[in-house]
Amino acid sequence: MKQIFLLSASLLLFTAASFARNTKAGDEALGIFKYENFEKPDVCGSSCHTDFYQQWSQAMMSQCYTHHWDDIEYWKLAVPHAEKDPKVAGVKEGCNGCHAPVSFMAGDVPPPKPKENSRANESVSCDVCHTISGFKGDTPFNFNYISNPGKTKFATREALYSPAHDIKVNTFLAKSEFCGTCHNEKSPYDVWVKSTQLEWKEGPYYKEGVQCQTCHMPKAPGFTAIMGKQYDDAAQHLFHGAHDPGKVRGTVELRIHPDTREAEPGEQVKFTVALFNQKTGHKFPTGSAEERMLWLHVEAKDSKGNIYHLKVDPKGFKGEEYTIAANVLAYQDMGIPLNIPDFKGVQRDGVPIGDRIFRLPYFDPQGRMTIMQWNTASQGVDYRIGPKETKIETFTWILPDNLEPGFLKVKATLYYQKLPTPIAEYLGVPMEEAEIIEVNFHETILEVLE
Ligand code: HEC
Ligand code: HEC
Ligand code: HEC
Ligand code: HEC
Repeated sequence: MKQIFLLSASLLLFTAASFARNTKAGDEALGIFKYENFEKPDVCGSSCHTDFYQQWSQAMMSQCYTHHWDDIEYWKLAVPHAEKDPKVAGVKEGCNGCHAPVSFMAGDVPPPKPKENSRANESVSCDVCHTISGFKGDTPFNFNYISNPGKTKFATREALYSPAHDIKVNTFLAKSEFCGTCHNEKSPYDVWVKSTQLEWKEGPYYKEGVQCQTCHMPKAPGFTAIMGKQYDDAAQHLFHGAHDPGKVRGTVELRIHPDTREAEPGEQVKFTVALFNQKTGHKFPTGSAEERMLWLHVEAKDSKGNIYHLKVDPKGFKGEEYTIAANVLAYQDMGIPLNIPDFKGVQRDGVPIGDRIFRLPYFDPQGRMTIMQWNTASQGVDYRIGPKETKIETFTWILPDNLEPGFLKVKATLYYQKLPTPIAEYLGVPMEEAEIIEVNFHETILEVLE
């Protein structure tokens, strides 16, 4: 009798365990699985999903852990900082919740370094995304996705069949909240340091039902698997963003005009630039906004080819000094992980003084500008360009006395950079990360009278 009871009790336990769905998410999901629970991406790619695999393998999504700047920031700044300052100790594990999710869920953190070619290098792999069943809480952020690895893969299309695994429809994958679990981030000081999905939700695209997937996984005719059939709307796994100059170019349209078409040297002319964000579904810049800069440079060229740099007219709003390029030092908190007491910092902007910068400054607990987003205790004025927003900038210029008569060409150029040059140089980050992309330009003409 006792034996039968034990047997049925263990049977019950067994059944419960085999149907137990994971409900842990975020920090509490550390170490709840094993590496073996997740399929390797080359298994998905080698014989079935060849196109998606190749798309993914050239997107940042497959390099979240291995990319040079991630490697440097994690190992040179975040890990040493976490070991020194108890307030940010959690990032030693936490960065991996988004950048190396399989290692995080396998409890292998910090993971082996990228050069050791461990499974951490899979970054955000096929099986990470295709086994996410939902998220915990009411706002997606800080890797609060709920992972349920196993034979069942989630997708959004009805009636898919695969000989390799089961497929279950999960509409969550088609929603921006899915992306938001990793594309929204709060610092240990409770500040939103990444808010792409929240920006989207406040903007016009949310109301129109345009999801992240619409622009970053566009639908096109194609196969979703080699032996599957062709669809008109196969979700392309492009995930193209700031690291794709083609995605960035043309994001903002700009037009410049003077307030008069003729002027004499010594006279004052006002140029107005209108900048319209026609392309992003969130603010521009978004994501790692702590290190992204978008700046407007205006130059005049007289009939002899002499060049004059025009400085933006200040508008007088609070915190504006961070949005006009200046000769100042910043990022002193890098001295903590780098072991340099009283570190003086490096140049804040590295772009021509007086240019307008569209950015969101992040501040460390001492109020100094930081790019260590986990060390962000507050933020300054949000002077980025919202989705479908138009910003106006003016440049008032007193024409120099020696200006050549004839036609003066005035050109406004909008540039974008992922990482300020002085930081890249100081930390030894390959210069491609600090590449300057020309987003757009426009030119106008003024006649300088004798
Ligand atoms: C209407 C189209 C559109 C929608 C909707 C959209 N994006 Fe973007 N996204 C863009 C464009 C264009 C860029 C390139 C310019 C830039 O870097 O911001 C971009 C850039 C990005 C970047 C790169 C940012 C960086 O600085 O590294 C990320 C990440 C991103 N998007 C994620 C998302 C997520 C997540 C959503 C949904 C919450 C989303 N996008 C919705 C158009 C869109
Ligand atoms: C960042 C998360 C993410 C990663 C990584 C990812 N996928 Fe997807 N995948 C999605 C989403 C989201 C959809 C559904 C898109 C939709 O319906 O708008 C999808 C759809 C698919 C589909 C069905 C396509 C269709 O049109 O029905 C297949 C097949 C697929 N993915 C395979 C893969 C493979 C193979 C990999 C790895 C090489 C991979 N995915 C990596 C998020 C991801
Ligand atoms: C499991 C976490 C995770 C999920 C889910 C996720 N992403 Fe990402 N994504 C990342 C990480 C981490 C990076 C950063 C890669 C890097 O630069 O290190 C990234 C990079 C990107 C980029 C490239 C940005 C650039 O700078 O070029 C785009 C675009 C993007 N994601 C869009 C999406 C969209 C759209 C979704 C939802 C369909 C999504 N992501 C879901 C973690 C995730
Ligand atoms: C909540 C998820 C999440 C966490 C936690 C997180 N990241 Fe990221 N990280 C992302 C996403 C998503 C992107 C890509 C967005 C973008 O393109 O700006 C990114 C981008 C980056 C980039 C690349 C920027 C570039 O220009 O290529 C670096 C470096 C980085 N993260 C380092 C870290 C470090 C170090 C930590 C831990 C202190 C960390 N991240 C924690 C989600 C996260």
